Amino acid sequence: MTVQAAHKPAVKPVLDALHGKVQKQVPFWLMRQAGRYLPEYRELRQKVGSFLGMAFNPDHATEITLQPIRRFDMDAAIVFSDILVVPYAMGQTLDFVAGEGPQLGPLDIDALAYQSQKLDPVFETLRRLRRALSPEKTLIGFAGAPFTVACYMVDGDSADDFLKTKQLAFKDPARFDRLIDKLVDATVSYLADQARAGADAVQIFDSWSGLLPEPYFTRWVTEPTKKIVQQLQKVAPGLPVIGFPRGSGIHCKNYAIQTGVNAVGIDTQTPLDWAFGQCGNTCLQGNLDPVLLLTGGKPMEDAVKRILDTARGRPFIFNLGHGIIKETPPDHVAQLARIIREHA
Ligand code: CP3
Repeated sequence: MTVQAAHKPAVKPVLDALHGKVQKQVPFWLMRQAGRYLPEYRELRQKVGSFLGMAFNPDHATEITLQPIRRFDMDAAIVFSDILVVPYAMGQTLDFVAGEGPQLGPLDIDALAYQSQKLDPVFETLRRLRRALSPEKTLIGFAGAPFTVACYMVDGDSADDFLKTKQLAFKDPARFDRLIDKLVDATVSYLADQARAGADAVQIFDSWSGLLPEPYFTRWVTEPTKKIVQQLQKVAPGLPVIGFPRGSGIHCKNYAIQTGVNAVGIDTQTPLDWAFGQCGNTCLQGNLDPVLLLTGGKPMEDAVKRILDTARGRPFIFNLGHGIIKETPPDHVAQLARIIREHA
């Protein structure tokens, strides 16, 4: 513990919000804040040659995670990795083909077996990050939610509609349950290991939850997320969890109540004032349209101020409604950071 910390406990604005504290100065971080919109990322990406070569190298992954913090001083750093490292650690082959996104090899559900040591480089990166970051910064670990990860595992690549996955789930729900159950166990183990390595909070990305109608949403989004939150409380007590069920704003109340997450990520399409009305005193996170960040200037400024005014008096973490678009000028992110800091 530093001398200063002994006298004055470090304030962690993101953790405080996750614990329900209302703050005048709203904390912020951005989904996909490390990545291709930053020239220093692109330079390293070109030198290293592969995405996984960067994510599985603690020197590179630590550097990339810190790049946006140095430039924009966000309140949280999110470890540089990907949601698809879990299927890789379960034995499915994973490749990131330049320009085409992720590609996963053949799937044999019964043969999947999660081996945590395959993800040791991610844990080493987290240890280094916790040492490198000042105490007021929150270090966020993450995983994909079981349904979203299953989408890539079954379809094999980014399909947008994930027809193979949904058809498997609807035709053979018992078999799909086996895959989801294995993913729940692997995700609990992976997130608990991230917490042990230094993550202060974790986010569960359910990017494709909006593809499921009821009663499937409850079965494959809400229930597995609830199991993850409950099991995590046993192995990593007190670890705050942010759930981000994208495309599912309409379900935010039930999702918040039933899963027990500390905060719900709100996507661009869901009106924030409505979501606050639904979710009571649950901390919300979101929800600037990434295209407004791409656009910058007055349209962005107006939208940011509207969000901050809507969230006044509520526990809130400012973020985007989805990840940063790779063409976003870094200057717009700097402008965004200024607006948030000045609009207390
Ligand atoms: O937020 C951060 O800064 C941390 C890093 C992070 C990445 N992926 C790095 C990445 C996080 C949190 C993710 C999550 C992720 N990955 C999600 C959930 C969030 C969302 O966007 O919906 C999903 C669905 C994936 C799967 C994935 N990874 C896809 C579909 C792709 C290809 C398309 C794309 O955006 O490039 C990736 C690759 C990926 N993951 C990149 C980065 C920086 C680009 C790799 C490169 O440099 O070529």
